[in-house]
Amino acid sequence: MGGAPVDAGTVRYLRSGLVRWYRRERRDLPWRRTSDPYRIWISEAMLQQTRVATAIPYYERFIDELPDIKSLARAPVDDVLALWAVLCYYRRARLLKAAAEEVVRVHGGALPSGEEELRALPGIGRYTAGAIRSIAFGLRAPLMDGNVFRVFARFFALPGSWGREKDKKRFWKIAEALVPPGNPGDFNQALMELGALVC
Ligand code: ADE
Repeated sequence: MGGAPVDAGTVRYLRSGLVRWYRRERRDLPWRRTSDPYRIWISEAMLQQTRVATAIPYYERFIDELPDIKSLARAPVDDVLALWAVLCYYRRARLLKAAAEEVVRVHGGALPSGEEELRALPGIGRYTAGAIRSIAFGLRAPLMDGNVFRVFARFFALPGSWGREKDKKRFWKIAEALVPPGNPGDFNQALMELGALVC
């Protein structure tokens, strides 16, 4: 693969083929019917620890009870933990609430779109920042999770291990090269969808 992580022809081929496939095959999921950054953030936090089918009822209940950042910031932490309940791993729920409080305090209640500002919030790492920026704000931000890692490993026939920092770094470079300026959120979700449904 030389200097550039992916050659220009492959970039074009993947961008157009993948997004076309995604628009035909994508699942109709509740967080795909919104561009509200708050809802996309909550869905991505849930999807980092469970699969889509499990997340759906939790997502719907969470959004019913806490429909915006201010309600999450104000909610008693026990209520937030109860809504998270069977998703386990309560640390993530506590971080969500802490992040919502900070967004209200520092950003006037609106999730910021900048990478640095997002990653300064509790619990938001590179993956979640990339998901929020591309899916909710339409910004050309890459993302990579376990599914995307697997798609790249197969497509580019790269040996790689999710547990190795060096491999992850290399795969992030591929994600950066591939994500298109137009509809980056669809492209990123297409990568994850392909990983989940096919690969
Ligand atoms: N896994 C995590 N986020 C996802 C999304 N938005 N679409 C499909 N799979 C995902």
